[in-house]
Amino acid sequence: MIQFDQVSYQYKSNSPYVLNDVNLSIDEGEWVSILGQNGSGKSTAAKLLNGLLRPVEGRVIIDDTEITDDTVYQVRRHVGMVFQNPENQFVGTTVLDDVAFGLENIGVPREEMIKRIDESLKQVDMLEYKNHEPTKLSGGQKQRIAIASVLAMRPEIIVFDEATSMLDPIGKKEIIETMRYLHEQYNLTIITITHDLNEAAYSDRVITLHNGSIWFQGTPRHLFQYGEKLEEVGLEPTLITKVYHSLKRESFAVKEEPLHFKELVDELWTLYLKT
Ligand SMILES: Nc1ncnc2c1ncn2[C@@H]1O[C@H](COP(=O)(O)OP(=O)(O)O)[C@@H](O)[C@H]1O
Ligand SMILES: [Mg+2]
Repeated sequence: MIQFDQVSYQYKSNSPYVLNDVNLSIDEGEWVSILGQNGSGKSTAAKLLNGLLRPVEGRVIIDDTEITDDTVYQVRRHVGMVFQNPENQFVGTTVLDDVAFGLENIGVPREEMIKRIDESLKQVDMLEYKNHEPTKLSGGQKQRIAIASVLAMRPEIIVFDEATSMLDPIGKKEIIETMRYLHEQYNLTIITITHDLNEAAYSDRVITLHNGSIWFQGTPRHLFQYGEKLEEVGLEPTLITKVYHSLKRESFAVKEEPLHFKELVDELWTLYLKT
């Protein structure tokens, strides 16, 4: 579905390469997290993915079509983007207007528009807020409306660029639940860009960028095995990983690397019952 073929990018001809000869491919229906510290090139990668930026070298291919001047507008329709700050993503005075905006822009007929608005608001569990003012919603709800606006355009790929980073814990949880639902129910290809490993734990695969290159690529469980070494590439291990690795250091007979809180708790109970 998505392919980076030897992609390099620099913002100016005399500035350092932000991405250096990056190869990656993402399958249809996959959920991939792109991880890396601030400035590691995550947002640059996202912009290359929908043609907002064009590689200095290499090619970006979406669904068998290389992004070029001729294909960029057509390709962009397949790639929806949700950004960090929900406040900056509103254009309408009601939730309905807001979701309608993108559809009006591409000339979707009225009947079809109404259908798509209801459908996409249902997908993010916000249908009952259709006539509310977006400014009065919580952060998580605002971000769900932003997601609905993207879904209404029927993309095949959605990129979430730090979409949970400005939200409180409840909002974060709402968005992660929404991502999981969309992934499971609609087989959407999902790319979440984050430095939150708790969020990355839900994805099928993680790609970690460091110094312009891919530092790690594999399952989240495998990444978490790096434990404290993750700090070397600017990633903060989750509390779950920290607890698990300190048990290991203390020679407790712990089994598999836990991804989620429940797995760690189960592990702790097993240890407790043994002693
Ligand atoms: N518009 C720009 N002009 C010049 N340099 C930029 C621009 N945007 C980003 N950069 C630089 O490119 C590098 C990667 O940035 P970015 O892709 O935003 O990283 P991330 O999203 O991982 O934090 C950083 O060093 C950043 O300063
Ligand atoms: Mg960024």
